[in-house]
Amino acid sequence: PKARPLAGLRLMLTAGPTREALDPVRYISNHSSGKMGFALAAAAQALGAAVTLVSGPVSLATPAGVQRVNVESAQNMYDAVMAGIEEQQIFIACAAVADYAPKMVASHKIKKTRADNMVVELIKNPDIVASVAALPRKPFTVGFAAETRDVEKYALDKLERKNLDMIAANDVSGSDRGFNSDQNALSVFWPGGRQHLPLAGKTELAEQLLTLIANRYHETH
Ligand code: PMT
Repeated sequence: PKARPLAGLRLMLTAGPTREALDPVRYISNHSSGKMGFALAAAAQALGAAVTLVSGPVSLATPAGVQRVNVESAQNMYDAVMAGIEEQQIFIACAAVADYAPKMVASHKIKKTRADNMVVELIKNPDIVASVAALPRKPFTVGFAAETRDVEKYALDKLERKNLDMIAANDVSGSDRGFNSDQNALSVFWPGGRQHLPLAGKTELAEQLLTLIANRYHETH
């Protein structure tokens, strides 16, 4: 196999969580650390790609040679991705994007009242990976699936429903893998094929996943 199978290709990926503001000091978010996405960015760069990393708020250093765009909310992430997607041959959605955001963002800090209950109305965020996969000049599009049960069933459903070229599913029900852990395991599916990548460090796993992506990209282009 070629040492730099992604040479000459532009690859964009999303990483980390998003933050959906409730007011100037509060937000809804999740436990994504960015480790998986940053490992993928570093591995893609090492395999020869020109990498753009669109990242939610994380405390990780930018991998050498990688162009980084920082964002906060799902809407910001969508805008940053769409602004640069036309030039990309490959797109990987590793970010844990909030599916919903508060409908109203208070312009001042929300005050505590006498009431024991409070209701926050949420509205759906744009689906970034599905929007990329729906573009007329669609890049090779890879999604992730974070599941706590029926991993294969939901992953295959997302592969088809979001019109993806490949999906990497992880079980996020335990603490030894997935969110925030240094390790992960992935079940990778594409139309007509699959490969399980067993529990390993995220750096090693990123190299394995990118090798699968490079192979499949060259098979189909
Ligand atoms: O960051 P780490 O701590 O290293 O953890 C890594 C991880 C567990 C976050 C990562 O491996 C992972 O699974 N990322 C996807 C998390 C997720 O939100 O999965 P999902 O099944 O909810 O979403 C499915 C796919 O749609 C994902 O590719 C997601 O990026 C994408 N999506 C989802 C919602 C949305 N509005 N836009 C999207 O693009």
